Amino acid sequence: MMIKEALSWAREELKEACERPAFEAELLLAYHLGQDRTYLLIHESESFPDVDKFQKLIQRRASHEPYEYIVGSVSFYDIHLEVEKGVLIPRPETEILIDLVAEIIEKENITNIAEIGVGSGAISIVLARKFPQLHIIATDISDMPIKVAEKNIKTFGLNQQIELRKSNLIDEVPEALELVVSNPPYIAEDFLLESNVIDYEPKEALFGGRVGDELLKQIILDVKNRGIKYLACEMGYDQKEPLQVFVNEIGVEYIKFYKDLAGFDRGFVIKFNEGKE
Ligand SMILES: C[S@@+](CC[C@H](N)C(=O)[O-])C[C@H]1O[C@@H](n2cnc3c(N)ncnc32)[C@H](O)[C@@H]1O
Repeated sequence: MMIKEALSWAREELKEACERPAFEAELLLAYHLGQDRTYLLIHESESFPDVDKFQKLIQRRASHEPYEYIVGSVSFYDIHLEVEKGVLIPRPETEILIDLVAEIIEKENITNIAEIGVGSGAISIVLARKFPQLHIIATDISDMPIKVAEKNIKTFGLNQQIELRKSNLIDEVPEALELVVSNPPYIAEDFLLESNVIDYEPKEALFGGRVGDELLKQIILDVKNRGIKYLACEMGYDQKEPLQVFVNEIGVEYIKFYKDLAGFDRGFVIKFNEGKE
């Protein structure tokens, strides 16, 4: 089979599952051949090895498996991270959370923080690369994210800066902290997700409880009760109002909500009152 024939076959196969079937067909063939996409154009009339293996990759994608799990890698912020099934694929909107946290770290000269729910390590790795003086304790409740984050942290040589710890929230983190960052599971239990998400990504990374914001509220309470100054979290587009009511009840110095690039409410930064329970 020639490259151009393979691409036209793959495009047809991917029509249902992908928004950009031609593009993904090219990406997957380039990945299969260990080449970039321009190679395909120049060599379109040539045949290539292991056609059956390429066809299997396309079939996986046609069954809605995310591209990132198939190739085992994701582009995030200014880096590439390893990902595999059992770990959430980091999303572009989480880059906004990182930039907001980076502003606070810079302004307040913060050196000790924790991340709740490390996943692939995306947030902690980008922050550690930005701030070489920063020490991060990154927790996760599941083994698989800790294993994958460990690999990614090693790849970037950040073992001295990021300490991984299996923990529910920050229960196993008694150290003094100045800030906590988290992109926790925040989706409601009965929310209908697309097949590429629900059939492949880990449930523990997606669902935050029956209503969805239960874990977020617990994180707010834990961080407040520990006397930590700042908390920055991602949240669902419909959670601004209930979270505003919740923080009004418990009392904070301020909560600032932010939106994602599509204009949806997507997260918040809380500053807690110092020295108050
Ligand atoms: C939405 S993912 C975020 C992963 C990564 N930080 C990112 O932004 O791509 C949430 C992560 O929180 C972890 N998690 C869920 N419940 C937790 C809990 N109670 N304590 C600690 N981690 C938890 C999940 O295993 C998952 O890795």
